[in-house]
Formats: sequence, C-alpha cells, structure tokens
Amino acid sequence: MAHQVALRVLHDSESYCIREAALDEVEPLLKMFKKDMSKKWVDQYHNLPGKKFALVAVDKETNKVIGGIERVVDFDTGSATGVGFAVLKDFRRRGIGATLLKVMDDELRNMGVTCITTVPASKNAAEFLKENGYEYEEFIKSFLAATGKSNVALYGFDAFKMKKYL
Ligand SMILES: CC(C)(COP(=O)(O)OP(=O)(O)OC[C@H]1O[C@@H](n2cnc3c(N)ncnc32)[C@H](O)[C@@H]1OP(=O)(O)O)[C@@H](O)C(=O)NCCC(=O)NCCS
Repeated sequence: MAHQVALRVLHDSESYCIREAALDEVEPLLKMFKKDMSKKWVDQYHNLPGKKFALVAVDKETNKVIGGIERVVDFDTGSATGVGFAVLKDFRRRGIGATLLKVMDDELRNMGVTCITTVPASKNAAEFLKENGYEYEEFIKSFLAATGKSNVALYGFDAFKMKKYL
C-alpha cells in the first residue's frame, strides 16, 4: 500500500479548503496555469533553483482541485518567485484567489521570506495583484507615469515584474 503523507490544511471554509499540494498534483496544477499564462514562463519559473512550494484549493463537494498557486523560494535571499496562480473559471469571483494569495503569503512569511516577485499575466491579473498588495518596481512606475502608457501590452514581459514585501 502506498505510504500516505498527511498534507497540511491551511484554510477551511464551507465549500472549499486550501492545503499543500501533493507531489502528483503539481503537474496538473502547472497545466492549469498554462491555460491562462505563458507556457514558457511557467516552466522557466518552476525550474528555478530553490524550494518549490505549491498550494491547492479543493472543492469539498467533489474533492476536485479548483485552483492553486506555486512559488519558488530562495532561502539565501529570503525571496520567492511566482510560478503560477489560477482559479478555474466556474469558481472565480468568490474570493478563492485572494485567499490563496493570502495563505501563501502567511506560509512564506513563516519560512522567512520577505519579498515576492511575480510577472502579471494580463492587465486584469496586474490589477488583481495590485489590489492584493503587489506593486510595480520603481522604474516601471516611472515609465508608466512618464509615458502615460498604462494600457500598452506590458503584460507577460519578464522585465515588468510586480513585487510585494511581506
Ligand atoms: C486572477 C484569478 C486567480 C483571481 O481568482 P478569483 O478566485 O476570481 O479571485 P477573487 O474571487 O479573490 O477576486 C476576483 C474578483 O472577484 C471579486 N470577488 C471576490 N469575492 C466575491 C464575491 N463573493 N462576489 C462577487 N465578487 C467577488 C473580487 O473583489 C475581485 O474583484 P476584481 O475583479 O475587481 O479584482 C483568476 O481570475 C484567474 O485564474 N485568472 C486567470 C489566471 C491568471 O491571470 N492568474 C494570475 C497570474 S499573475
């Protein structure tokens, strides 16, 4: 019989819970990210050196994974990089995304992480991240202020990162 490892539940609500992802849940999670985000970057960030840390949101009725988030932690610098973050379409706008971000922040803080960097996949993603405490780096803010080009297609470019200090 396969050895079952208890996965920590980090958030429990009436309809879903958030827990650590099992090893065999990581590949399907990356696949979920790739539906909305650049395949190349999901792979590139997932393969960064450091500790891979992924959480899943699980629907209590069906026991299916309905969302998730992965960060790679560099303990030498106390920083983390976003690999991907998504909630299935039918489950969006119920607060699951914001809760996943918050639970991940709390876990990273407990690990000693002080800064998270991530590339927003779209304008909506950038706005969502902003509402949840992420900011563009200073040089991007200056660029946006100087050119007024807040609607240009900046999204998904590696240089246009957002940061959050924990
Ligand atoms: C970004 C994403 C993860 C957000 O997930 P989500 O579960 O819908 O997030 P939330 O429900 O916490 O918040 C989304 C919106 O719903 C609103 N909302 C939250 N709870 C709500 C509720 N009970 N009723 C109505 N609206 C609600 C929030 O205020 C937020 O509003 P906004 O659109 O003005 O920001 C999701 O849209 C997604 O998977 N997108 C595609 C992938 C992607 O872009 N990932 C981010 C890469 S950086």
